[in-house]
Parts: sequence; C-alpha cells; structure tokens
Amino acid sequence: MELRGAVVVVTGASSGIGAATALELGRAGAKLVLHGRDPARLASLAGRTGGLTLPADFADTEAVSRVAAEVTERFGTVDALVNNAGIGWAGAFSEMTREQVRDLIAVNLTAPIELTRALLPALSPQGRVVFVTSIAGRTGVAGEAVYSAVKAGLDSFAESLRFELAGTGMKVGVVVPGVVDTEFFARRGRPYERRSPRPVPPERVAAAVVRAVRDGRAESYVPRWLRVPVAVRGLVPGLYRGLAARFGGS
Ligand SMILES: NC(=O)c1ccc[n+]([C@@H]2O[C@H](COP(=O)([O-])OP(=O)(O)OC[C@H]3O[C@@H](n4cnc5c(N)ncnc54)[C@H](OP(=O)(O)O)[C@@H]3O)[C@@H](O)[C@H]2O)c1
Repeated sequence: MELRGAVVVVTGASSGIGAATALELGRAGAKLVLHGRDPARLASLAGRTGGLTLPADFADTEAVSRVAAEVTERFGTVDALVNNAGIGWAGAFSEMTREQVRDLIAVNLTAPIELTRALLPALSPQGRVVFVTSIAGRTGVAGEAVYSAVKAGLDSFAESLRFELAGTGMKVGVVVPGVVDTEFFARRGRPYERRSPRPVPPERVAAAVVRAVRDGRAESYVPRWLRVPVAVRGLVPGLYRGLAARFGGS
C-alpha cells in the first residue's frame, strides 16, 4: 500500500506505541485520524503529524461507534485501521473487581472488534486492519489472566477475519509485542521489574505496525525471538510449562 495520502486511523495514538506509529505514518505522508482519550496530547501530536483528532473513551462502546461514524462521514473511505489502544492490569485474579474485568474486556477486546465491524464497509478494496496484541495472549502470564485472555481473543479474532477476507484484497495483520518501554506499566499500577526480557523502544513496535500496514504482513513479533517460546509451547507444552514455572511464568 502507498502510504502517501492513505487515510489511516490509529487508536491509542496519544501515547507509547500509538504515538510512535502515528509519527512514522505522518512522516510517510499518511492522512491520520488520531484517537486517544487525552485531547491535549492528541492536539500536540497532530501539530507534528497533521490529521484529525478524535478523543473518545473506548470503555464505552457507544463512543467507539461514534468515532467510526465520524471517520466515515469525514473521509468516506479508510485505507487502514490500526487497533492499538489498550490497558493492562496486573495482580492476582482473585483481587480483581468486576469493574476492572469489565473495562479490560471493553477497551482491549470489545472496542477493537466494534470499531473494525463499523469501519469495514468503509475500508478501501486494498485496505488493511492491524491489531496490536501481546505475547501475553500467546503464552499466558501469571498475574495477567484477564489481560492475556483478551489479547488471545483479539489474536483469534484477527486470524479468523484474515481467513474471512482472503481473496478480497483486504489484509489483516497482528503485531505481537513483548515488553515495550511505554507508560503502560505505570498506568496498570505495577512497574515492570524483571531483568529480562529487556523492554524495547516503542519505535521498534511502530516500525512493525507500519510494515504491517504497508506490506500487508500477517504477523510480526517484536522482538522476533519471541516466536521461539510460542513455538516451544505449541510443540512441547509440558516442557514449556516446566520452564515457565521455573523462570517465573510471566
Ligand atoms: N507496553 C508493553 O509492554 C506492551 C506489550 C504488549 C502489548 N502492548 C499493547 O500495546 C498497545 C499500546 O500500549 P502502550 O504500551 O503504547 O501503552 P500506553 O503508552 O499506555 O498507551 C495506551 C494508549 O491506549 C489509550 N487508551 C487507554 N485506555 C483507553 C480508553 N479507555 N479509551 C480510549 N483509549 C484508551 C491511551 O489513551 P490516553 O493516553 O489518551 O488515555 C493511549 O493512547 C496496547 O494495546 C497494549 O496492550 C503493550
């Protein structure tokens, strides 16, 4: 896909991976729709990239539908949708409140599915839909049971949609990050304290997202070696579980 002039919607563009993605797409000449919650951050980003800002809280499904309607009304056709907005939560599952579970599911799973559903009719014939999932959704992580579950659900949704759209010209991709140096950990209320794997800069994930949009790539791990534990888990799950229990499982 030619990025210059392409209409690209980036959710969660006000921070971290989304902001880095928007900056790279802006440099490539894309026409951006910048979503997030923080209007001031979005306005500051738009000052560097150009584009339309659409603040909305994706814990509310109605707000997701409103964003889709506004994008369709303003542009008619969308060339790419990057579903990136997300939140984490860490701690024992038994300590989660019903509201915390609800919001994790709403923001990380319901919102990207609803936004994709609502924008699919406006997607150009060669359009792209990219999802930022997580290694947690591929392996499971102690202390992140619901987060892992919703990311696994998003992964599975993306894979199914890719099959469904095969032959249409539209392509679906997932970017599967490991640990990324963003505000994600501070916001979820528990900093990242492990010594390995080391966090990667958000620009590295953004580069993979932009490749997924430009080339229609189906799947990218960031960093690439993360495919190894996923493959081990698939081939020898008993060995994987033993190693995960020994080295922390998270
Ligand atoms: N950081 C990691 O290690 C890591 C690893 C794997 C996957 N991921 C995934 O990468 C994606 C981006 O995360 P990040 O690391 O860049 O974190 P981040 O810096 O905290 O950015 C999260 C983005 O999502 C938006 N967002 C959060 N809650 C929202 C809500 N209720 N409604 C609308 N927007 C909301 C935020 O908007 P505001 O700032 O305006 O509130 C922000 O733009 C997420 O899906 C996350 O699950 C991150």
